[in-house]
Amino acid sequence: MSIEPVHANAEAIAKAAVILHQGGLVAFPTETVYGLGADAENPDAVRKIFTAKGRPADHPLIVHIGSSEMLDDWAQHIPDAAYQLAARFWPGPLTLIMHKPPKVPLIVTGGQPTIALRIPDNPVALNLLRAFGGGIAAPSANRYNRISPTQAQHVVSELGDAVDMILDGGPCAIGLESTIVDLTGEQPVILRPGHINRLQIEESLQRTVSVAQRAQIRAPGMLEIHYAPLTPALLCSSRELQGKVSQLAGQNKRIGLLSYTGQIQNNSQVHSIQMPRSAPDYGKMLYAALHELDELQLDAILVEKLPDTEEWRAINDRLSKATISL
Ligand code: TXA
Ligand code: MG
Repeated sequence: MSIEPVHANAEAIAKAAVILHQGGLVAFPTETVYGLGADAENPDAVRKIFTAKGRPADHPLIVHIGSSEMLDDWAQHIPDAAYQLAARFWPGPLTLIMHKPPKVPLIVTGGQPTIALRIPDNPVALNLLRAFGGGIAAPSANRYNRISPTQAQHVVSELGDAVDMILDGGPCAIGLESTIVDLTGEQPVILRPGHINRLQIEESLQRTVSVAQRAQIRAPGMLEIHYAPLTPALLCSSRELQGKVSQLAGQNKRIGLLSYTGQIQNNSQVHSIQMPRSAPDYGKMLYAALHELDELQLDAILVEKLPDTEEWRAINDRLSKATISL
């Protein structure tokens, strides 16, 4: 049995805040993706998040707060860079890693001495945070290693009745998870690229910022797959696309395609989605398109390769984790 999303009006948000106070789980929209929220100061409630997602206990969560004034309460030894970035980008799709204060249970941070914080830029999320009053620990509201939800219906198909309430605030405006910046070292480091890019962060801090390299070496059989659809997904250059489509169609395969240049026509075997040409629009649509193709239970999904520039970095990062390269 699964529960139905509830239109996120004032009454529903007030009810959601009560559920959080009682130690329950509430899925709610943010500007990036839907989050699966619990009271960040209640270890039993936070434990339910890990169970619902099937997520390993050492995988830390992001704590969402409702105002910048709460920052001093939810982090310690806060560097100037945090105040600068918060002033410029909060509320917004930027998560800051800082030192954890004692009041935050270790289960929230996966046992680490650091904490991830952000103020989301979505009216439902902000109203929920205000109604609740405290910090809300919330990972993306999908099962572990699956595609993040950008619509309330995605949460239903991912988590079913494992949540106590799903607030429906419509499709997410950005559609990709927040940029994560680690401020605990000597240099700020971007751990996860997102809508707010390196150049904007460097401009705000007036210093250079590095982007963390993928820790794991890519080797055959050891591909790091995250955010993946259930259907095998392949990344394919525009040049090789026609050949790959013909090859798979010749083997009687049913194929989904995320098309960028628009060179391939739909037919009985090829279900193609024409993606937007601008990076922000593409990013907003990406997960919904992958969810849509996944539900068709095709034999394979082909994703046409995108430009290798800074504005496409976050999208290329997610695609590299959702696909295998040809
Ligand atoms: O846009 C977002 O960030 C969404 C919405 C719901 O806010 N949340 C999200 O959460 O994407 P999640 O759990 O799917 O991803 C959180 C990421 C993980 O990769 C985790 O490793 C990292 O944040 N993270 C959290 N705390 C950390 C910490 N103390 N140190 C390093 N990384 C941390
Ligand atoms: Mg996630």
